[in-house]
Amino acid sequence: MESKSRRSFLTRVIGGVLGLGFVSTAWPYVRSLFPNVLYEPPQRFKAGPPGNFSEGTTFLEDRRVFIFRKGNTFHAISGVCTHLGCTVKFAPYQKPKKRTVRGLTYEAKGEFHCPCHGSKFYDEGTNFAGPAPRPLSWHPLEISPEDGQLVVDLSKEVSRDYRLVV
Ligand code: FES
Repeated sequence: MESKSRRSFLTRVIGGVLGLGFVSTAWPYVRSLFPNVLYEPPQRFKAGPPGNFSEGTTFLEDRRVFIFRKGNTFHAISGVCTHLGCTVKFAPYQKPKKRTVRGLTYEAKGEFHCPCHGSKFYDEGTNFAGPAPRPLSWHPLEISPEDGQLVVDLSKEVSRDYRLVV
């Protein structure tokens, strides 16, 4: 009688161990059926008709990009700090200042400041203070042939002399 209950106990222990082994072996396969997917908005998007943008700087907060308009000329600068990815803020000057960057003299309207670790960038994107290792990215713009809206492509970069004329 005692030997029968011991056998039954051992059978259950062995069954439990085999069951645990099976589950731990099968789990990665079951988990692979549900991949980790990160749903992000498309990198290329319509920002609205060019006429909707006022002269100067417009920040598209949900896309973290600054659209600059000067007359019928547009360009886009990323609002993502090149240090660790915080969102920079544009700090406009009271009065425009003459500035020479990369051999080009122009009227600077302000600078970008990063609130996280103090990096600073000129308004054409060049980093000049703090730990940011490189300039802010410039992104291409185009006019949608379907409805004339301004299209921003955050997946691509352009040089800092890029301008879209509409
Ligand atoms: S994330 Fe901008 S300075 Fe660190």
